[in-house]
Amino acid sequence: MKIAVIGCGYLGAVHAAAMASLGYDTLGVDVDEAKIERLRRGEPPFFEPGLPELLQQGVGAGTLRFTTDVSEVVGSDVIFIAVGTPQRAGSDAADLTYVDAAVESLLPHIGEGTLVAGKSTVPVGTAQRLAERIAPTGAALAWNPEFLREGFAVEDTLAPDRLVYGVADRDDASVARLDAVYAPILERGTDRLVVNFATAELVKVSANAFLATKISFINAMAELSETVGADVTQLADAIGLDARIGRRFLNAGLGFGGGCLPKDIRAFQARAAELGHGETLGFLREVDQINLRRRDRMVTLIDRELARLGGDRVAMLGLAFKPNSDDVRDSPALDVCRRLQEGGRVVRAFDPEAAETAGRAMPTLDIAGSIDEAIRDADVIALGTEWQQFRELDPSEVATRTGARVVIDGRNALDAKRWAAAGFTVIGLGRPEMAPAA
Ligand code: UGA
Repeated sequence: MKIAVIGCGYLGAVHAAAMASLGYDTLGVDVDEAKIERLRRGEPPFFEPGLPELLQQGVGAGTLRFTTDVSEVVGSDVIFIAVGTPQRAGSDAADLTYVDAAVESLLPHIGEGTLVAGKSTVPVGTAQRLAERIAPTGAALAWNPEFLREGFAVEDTLAPDRLVYGVADRDDASVARLDAVYAPILERGTDRLVVNFATAELVKVSANAFLATKISFINAMAELSETVGADVTQLADAIGLDARIGRRFLNAGLGFGGGCLPKDIRAFQARAAELGHGETLGFLREVDQINLRRRDRMVTLIDRELARLGGDRVAMLGLAFKPNSDDVRDSPALDVCRRLQEGGRVVRAFDPEAAETAGRAMPTLDIAGSIDEAIRDADVIALGTEWQQFRELDPSEVATRTGARVVIDGRNALDAKRWAAAGFTVIGLGRPEMAPAA
């Protein structure tokens, strides 16, 4: 089996490495020469646990190759499309430029017997349009959405919760081809659903919309908790014990960011409006607003504490949009830094993996080389991303390395009692403030 993957970003690079690890002759294609150069050396262009090993294994064995020359896809049995679909500038809709360009670039090189399988997240209706564009070549199209989470991308690709194939009516050949590709995964009993194009496209965006809604639901409860003196973390534990609700994705805090949930819920609303269903997804506007309000709240809390203390220096721990990632796209932590800095505060941040990406996204940000360096002169310590190393900090140690005695936990990830016992005022999002132990 010969596999090609167009697009070597978070999705494509992981998918290509995973395909090679299943024993297929795999080719990764991208227009970015520098990215391809790194991948050829077995180096991922971003931080993703487990990926370096998988890349080195594939590149070393010669089963995984990378190129900028799309004509090398000739002879592939399956060509996956894994390019980005970012938010369009000046609009909420998805920008399909890269998907369209990928398909156009393939047209001269595909024919009868080739399966083009889309993995990118696209507005409903895209697959049908692309299938018609491809049809004259004799190749077939399937839509095979991907549900991987950054930070767990390798695991999610090789051991997914489910596989979804969107295929044209009665296209049994494409189903059989995908079954052959995923045979090692299906053999472990993984659920596999065969649906039409529109369903496959909707499965992907509705899954992300549901997850975003779950996060904003608990963050709405956090807003209320702040007013009535409730503790949203206990509330989440209590409602999460109901198996129908479930505890996962009920972590209140700074809310969701990244390259997927924010732009996907916006693109989903924009597409629904085009289809005359603006009201149907109107609640997603609220989901977005609740999410963004948590960043306002964090900035307000930090400002309030600085005013009380007569200081202006903030140590921000964490810049990535979530732990185990160096991705700062739409990162709540970085957004808070930007707004504090715009408000004249002096921010010094630390992140174990995202220093480089954050530095590129916000060149004026002072990024420290260590936690100690970040907190040394701070008046207030803020937690923006719940990396394990921040969770494991010993607050009594921290107290010896900084004059700050206020910690604002934007992810409700620190053990508030321990921090209070070590002399800190602990302020969470949606939780009663905890005073330092006497
Ligand atoms: C998300 C989905 O979880 C994946 O299933 C999907 O494949 C992917 O988007 C995609 O469309 O490509 P990802 O963006 O990697 O994955 O990150 P998540 O783990 O979903 O986290 C998203 C954001 O929500 C993070 O900023 C995280 O901090 C935040 N979050 C998550 C919360 O604020 N609370 C929670 O309880 C969970």
